[in-house]
Amino acid sequence: MKILVVGGAGYIGSHMVKQLALSNHDVVILDNLSCGYQDAVKYGELVIGDMGDTKVLDRLFSNNKFDAVMHFAAFIEVGESVINPGKYYHNNVSNTQVLLDAMVKHDVKHFIFSSTAAIFGEPQYTPIDENHPQNPINPYGRSKLMVEHMLEDYDNAYGLKSTCMRYFNAAGADPEGELGERHNPESHLVPLILQAASGRREDIKIFGQDYATDDGTCVRDYVHINDLCEAHSLALTRMQKTGNSARYNLGNGKGFSVQQVIDSAKQVSGKDFKVTITKRRAGDPAVLVADSTLARQELNWQPKFDQLETIIETAWQWEIDFLVRQ
Ligand code: UFG
Repeated sequence: MKILVVGGAGYIGSHMVKQLALSNHDVVILDNLSCGYQDAVKYGELVIGDMGDTKVLDRLFSNNKFDAVMHFAAFIEVGESVINPGKYYHNNVSNTQVLLDAMVKHDVKHFIFSSTAAIFGEPQYTPIDENHPQNPINPYGRSKLMVEHMLEDYDNAYGLKSTCMRYFNAAGADPEGELGERHNPESHLVPLILQAASGRREDIKIFGQDYATDDGTCVRDYVHINDLCEAHSLALTRMQKTGNSARYNLGNGKGFSVQQVIDSAKQVSGKDFKVTITKRRAGDPAVLVADSTLARQELNWQPKFDQLETIIETAWQWEIDFLVRQ
C-alpha cells in the first residue's frame, strides 16, 4: 500500500514509518518538523510541510495515489493546552480538518487517527473500555474528541472511513535501537526517569504521593510503542476489509504506579538516582488503565512487549545510545 504518515518524524510516527516500510509499504512522510526530527525519518520519503497548508496537500495528493493516511501530528502537552488552548484547537482541530478535506477532495478513503485516553477525562470506572463516558477535562483532550466527532460526521457524509486509536501511556523505544522518544521539553515519565538514571537530570520528581492508590502515586497503563504501531497496521487492514470505521482503547490492561516505574528503572539500569516528592500536577487522574478487549478481539492484537521491564529496557538502551551520540 501507499501510505501518507503525517507527523512521521515524531516519536510514534517515526516508529510507525519504520514498521510500515519494513512491511513493504510505500511510505511518504509529511512533517513540519515543529516537534519532529529530520534524522528520525529513517525510511520513506520526507516532505517538509504543514498539514494545514492546502497547497502542500494538493500537491502531495495529486502526485501520489494514497491508500490511507495516518495522522500523528498533534500537540500533546496537557498543561500547555490549558495555558494556550488556541495552539491546540488550531493545530489539532483546524489543521486536521484541512487534512481531512484534502482527503475528501482527492478521494482517499482510509484514515487512522492518534487519539488518547484524555478524551475520557476523570475515570468513572476502571479499566476504561470504549463505552466509558467521554468528558475530557483539558483542551488537549477536547481537541482530540472534537476530531473523533468530526470523523463520525465525515464518515456519514463523505464515506471517509477512520479508526481512532486511543493510546494510554505510549512508552519504550525501537528494540533495534534506531529510534526512540525525544520531546523538547521532555515531560513524560519514562524518559525523565531514565535521564535521571543516566545523570542527564539531577532527580526525578514524583508529582504527588497522596493519591488513593496502593503507594500513593498515580497509576498508568504503559504500552510499548511497537505494540501500538502494530495495532495501527492491524486496524488499517481490518478497516479496508470490513469497510467500517472503528475506535479502540490501547493499553496492556495493567497499571503501574509512578513509584513502581522508578523502581523498575533502577533495576533495569542498575543506577540509583535521586527521587523527590513534589505536589500533584494539575489534571492528573489517580488511575488510568485501558480495557483493550475490543482491540484484542477485533484486531487480534497481542502486545509482545507487555512487561514493564521490557518497555523500560528498550527506552534505557535509547538513552544510553543518546549519550554516546552526544
Ligand atoms: N509524572 C511524575 N513526574 C514527572 C512526570 C510525570 O510523577 O516528572 C507522573 C504524572 O503525574 C503521571 C505519570 O507520571 O501520573 C505519567 O505521566 P506522563 O506525563 O508520562 O503521562 P500522562 O499519563 O500524563 O500522559 C499520557 C500522554 C498524554 C496524554 C495522557 C492522557 O503522554 O499525551 O496520557 O491520555 F494526554
